[in-house]
Amino acid sequence: MPVYNLKINGTAHSIEADPDTPLLWVLRDHLNLVGTKYGCGIGQCGACTVHVDGTATRSCLLKVSMVEAMEITTIEGLSEDGSHPVQIAWKEIDVPQCGYCQAGQIMSASAFLNTNANPSKEDIRDAMSGNLCRCASYNRIEKAIETASS
Ligand code: FES
Repeated sequence: MPVYNLKINGTAHSIEADPDTPLLWVLRDHLNLVGTKYGCGIGQCGACTVHVDGTATRSCLLKVSMVEAMEITTIEGLSEDGSHPVQIAWKEIDVPQCGYCQAGQIMSASAFLNTNANPSKEDIRDAMSGNLCRCASYNRIEKAIETASS
């Protein structure tokens, strides 16, 4: 099997995997970075969102063979101690209910705020519309993003 050289959360990893292996499974099964969640596996829910070169990206859709030399950041690498402004706002607003989708939500929100530091409610709803939450924590997510941006 081929070996892929990946940079994940600032650390180099050599991963032996089938070229079609989704990045999501490399993160979870090869590297035990299980903060990134499997929801639908077909790019519809956002639970598997990570940053690839700073852009929020669905790791279930990305093959390991496509991400060599890219900077990949997972929820574990967003900050060392939960001190990213989005994580602080998430705790302050007490966003999660079951929590399953929240890593993906935070990764989408943090990438979004890097592109729009002062978003309107509509901007936030548009940016986050691809991240689903079965507990419907959407109002708290929106409030936390407003808090993080203020
Ligand atoms: Fe990737 Fe749902 S698991 S978008």
